[in-house]
Amino acid sequence: MTVAKSQPTHTPALDVERVRGDFPALYQRVHDKPLVYLDNAATSQKPQAVIDTLDDYYRRYNANVHRGLHKLAELATEAYEHARITVARFLNAPDAKQIVFTRGCTEAINLVAASWGGANLKPGDEILVSQMEHHSNIVPWQLIAEKTGAKVVMIPIDERGQINLDTYHALLNDKTRLVAVTAVSNSLGTINPIKKMIELAHAAGAVVLVDAAQAAPHMAVDVTDLDVDFLAFSGHKVFGPTGIGALYGRAELLEAMPPYQGGGEMIEQVTFEKTTFAAAPTRFEAGTPHIAGAIGLAAALNYVTAIGFDKIVTYENELLAYGTEALQAVEGLTLIGTAEHKAAVFSFTLDGIHPYDMSPVLDHEGIAIRTGHHCTQPVMDKFAIPATVRASLSFYNTPAEIDALVSALQKVKSLFS
Ligand code: ALA
Repeated sequence: MTVAKSQPTHTPALDVERVRGDFPALYQRVHDKPLVYLDNAATSQKPQAVIDTLDDYYRRYNANVHRGLHKLAELATEAYEHARITVARFLNAPDAKQIVFTRGCTEAINLVAASWGGANLKPGDEILVSQMEHHSNIVPWQLIAEKTGAKVVMIPIDERGQINLDTYHALLNDKTRLVAVTAVSNSLGTINPIKKMIELAHAAGAVVLVDAAQAAPHMAVDVTDLDVDFLAFSGHKVFGPTGIGALYGRAELLEAMPPYQGGGEMIEQVTFEKTTFAAAPTRFEAGTPHIAGAIGLAAALNYVTAIGFDKIVTYENELLAYGTEALQAVEGLTLIGTAEHKAAVFSFTLDGIHPYDMSPVLDHEGIAIRTGHHCTQPVMDKFAIPATVRASLSFYNTPAEIDALVSALQKVKSLFS
């Protein structure tokens, strides 16, 4: 049995056994094997602090926000609005008013496409979208392009799964109105040079939306330093609940944007003759929001901030180096996505074995990975493959879990050879 080379022997950047203790879901057996959870790009596990925060909200102060004048409503509103401040601090946004709570990253992108795009795009305008985007950062642009007569133009990626800055620069022109790009690819792990891409887009007069769904759990995201126009992320990938996410927007852009959905709370005044709308962010939060989700998200962001992205980045880079070496040693394995700057995401194929045939065997070994196109079909087309197996790591994973994956892959090989 081939297993990975010796595990790192130096003191790791982070006390992984201690942080694992914060995540109850990690301590279970699956098919009578210890769970090895390597599907973090799909969703992350939740620390006890988040679980307790949700429990406390529902037990003690569940109430609607911004509406009631009773004590519970006051507590819920305060916690919800404080969560907005926490998100603003997490992103280093100048003002909490620039944070819109959404159902997730997907809804945040759809909001910008429909609202900003609907108001600003016209026939002939170009929207640059990278080839490695998740479908949620492609399809909303196609939908609004169809409505407005604008055109979606692809920024190609190279054989390692990287954007070439010169190629990108050459695509920017006076018709480019918006660039939509992910900070980190969910299927390749590529870390994009978004700061430089934003600078180049601004020089061409375009605005930029960054999908930070995969970046937020792994690195500090600073909207002020990036000088980005819109940035979206999901709560559940950054150790918070599902069904909550956030959009950051440049103040003057948000203020000028029409509502995305109509409903309660987002108005200033309603008559049957005319309705006027509240200021941002309220204008974009029609209906009762996911109050527990926002409060839980704030708990998650506080948790991850307390660990510190300096430690997380260093530790995950160790996992990346260890995992790359260990997986490359598996005969017949091809890593898809070998960018120079990468997060700890390993997408791969094994010669002669369909990715979907691998999943049941890996699952039987207690290993949770994702198999498929990962909602990035253009990436699969680029590499001329139907799917990959993807192991996506987090700071609570260990080199021993990578060894377990490698051993399970040897089992897959022996079963299918
Ligand atoms: N976007 C998530 C993933 O990559 C669901 O798996």
